[in-house]
Amino acid sequence: MPERPYVIDELISAKTIAARIEDLSREIAEEFAGTDKLIVVGLLRGSFVFIADLVRELDLPIEVDFMEASSYGDGMESTREVRILKDLRGAIEGRDVLVVEDIVDTGYTLKHVSGLLNARKPARMKTIALLNKQARREVDFNADWVGFEIPDEFVVGYGIDFAQRNRDLPYIGTVRFT
Ligand code: PRP
Repeated sequence: MPERPYVIDELISAKTIAARIEDLSREIAEEFAGTDKLIVVGLLRGSFVFIADLVRELDLPIEVDFMEASSYGDGMESTREVRILKDLRGAIEGRDVLVVEDIVDTGYTLKHVSGLLNARKPARMKTIALLNKQARREVDFNADWVGFEIPDEFVVGYGIDFAQRNRDLPYIGTVRFT
């Protein structure tokens, strides 16, 4: 994609994200109360900041694992094709699993990954997405927990990139071309 200058407008502040993660962590801990260990699966790369903050708030015994699935190139449009670039290190059969995603857009990625992991017969599996863009949904799939509903705008920050940039922003912002 050609370089076009843009600015980033703050949409969700770091403070608001942190407060929401505290609430979500409480709900998740209630849902999985009594688990011997929750396997928290981060979908790379976008979820790396969210999962780091989430597991530090979660009052449960946990294990962390990662998968990488890709449905986008370096552009802004989904190719609608989900590729597994990296699979889990550990087995999940009979285990409690929480899949952590940064954003659900068309829904292809989380639906595909959920189907794949469910086939491995976890005891309980739930999904969480920090952001949900309902207006863009193309498949019938919703995460069990959503941090924030957002409008159909291109967002960056808090792990989310625009052509691999801006993942390091501590807040979520929208991209505005200038
Ligand atoms: C983005 C995002 C989600 C997915 C959501 O990942 O992190 O995983 O797209 O889109 P969907 O609901 O339309 O499938 P991307 O493939 O850009 O990879 P990244 O996480 O490495 O940035």
